[in-house]
Amino acid sequence: MSINVRTAVAGLALVVVALPTGASAAAPATLGAAAAAKGRTFGAGVTAAKLADSAYVGILDREFSSVTPENEMKLDATEPQRGQFSFGPADRVVQHAQARGMKVRGHSLLWHSGQPGWLQSLTGPVLREAMLNHVTQVAAHFRGQVVSWDVVDEAFADTGGRRRDSNFQRTGDDWIEAAFRAARAADPGAKLCYNDYNVEDWASQKTQAVYAMVRDFKQRGVPIDCVGLQSHFGFGIPYPASYRTTLSSFAALGVDVEISQLDVVGSGAEQAGTYRRVVEDCLAVARCTGITVWGVRDTDSWRSSGTPLLFDGAGNPKAAYDAVLAALTSRPCGRPR
Ligand code: G3I
Repeated sequence: MSINVRTAVAGLALVVVALPTGASAAAPATLGAAAAAKGRTFGAGVTAAKLADSAYVGILDREFSSVTPENEMKLDATEPQRGQFSFGPADRVVQHAQARGMKVRGHSLLWHSGQPGWLQSLTGPVLREAMLNHVTQVAAHFRGQVVSWDVVDEAFADTGGRRRDSNFQRTGDDWIEAAFRAARAADPGAKLCYNDYNVEDWASQKTQAVYAMVRDFKQRGVPIDCVGLQSHFGFGIPYPASYRTTLSSFAALGVDVEISQLDVVGSGAEQAGTYRRVVEDCLAVARCTGITVWGVRDTDSWRSSGTPLLFDGAGNPKAAYDAVLAALTSRPCGRPR
């Protein structure tokens, strides 16, 4: 054996020894890489204050390919006084993502909640003008930096298939389309999404009402590109068997679908099974372009007592993480996804 061949064989042995037992050399080892191999993003809801936590940032940077600021782009954060904009924390999240090649989902331009006092005191045409100015200013500030915007969040009532009563709704039923047109004008390159919760079950009146609005918008040329299904499961909102039907039905209208705030209250195999089904459903729908989990570790969650995320408080991947990674890397029989 020549020295060169011996060196090559030794090197090969090292590579083989370095692979963890049972691992395939081709299988992507992180959520972001595995999702990318399927043409999707895998994101996390992120809080600017936690970017100082090295354990948090370590997981975020290793695993995720997209971020959504949990609160930093909301109206109370970005326009605390009328006409005075504040982008510091949101800019920090965006810069963190950009420096690492992660995409940014903008969340959210208009929401009935999280409104500053000055806005709550306005009504009628004055409120409408202030509302649209907010959309314009914020979308313009982040022009070219966000891949998509939740232009309007949670505008439908929980029951009855009607619009939610809100100060925005009281300015006229066309407030949502006006917001989408203003966002398009301010950032023509961003995908514009309608985002909501309890729109995962195809049979629910709320899902049907949002579906009817999106269909109407597409028919009339109102600029809408995607629908975000928040997908907060558990605590009385089970994962519905019709989830894949809901995703594919919205997609058939000619919009992308995003799983935008996924979390599953629970633990162990049951929680892991729900996560696996959600990922499988997304992969089965060509226009399901990404999944975002609403936080990094259980302790970062808005409902931390329900341990709804993929990493425990110590930063260890849970059974739910393994299930998501396995679903993302699985090869269905017959044809590639
Ligand atoms: O930053 C302050 C901190 O300084 C203060 O000491 C502390 C005391 O309560 O509050 C901190 O702010 C909290 C903030 O989260 C950051 O942790 C707010 O009180 C709290 O209301 C806020 O909750 C957020 C909630 O929206 C309301 O805006 C959650 O983080 C966020 O996950 C949640 O996200 C929403 C989506 O936007 C819409 N869909 C539902 C989802 C869950 O409610």
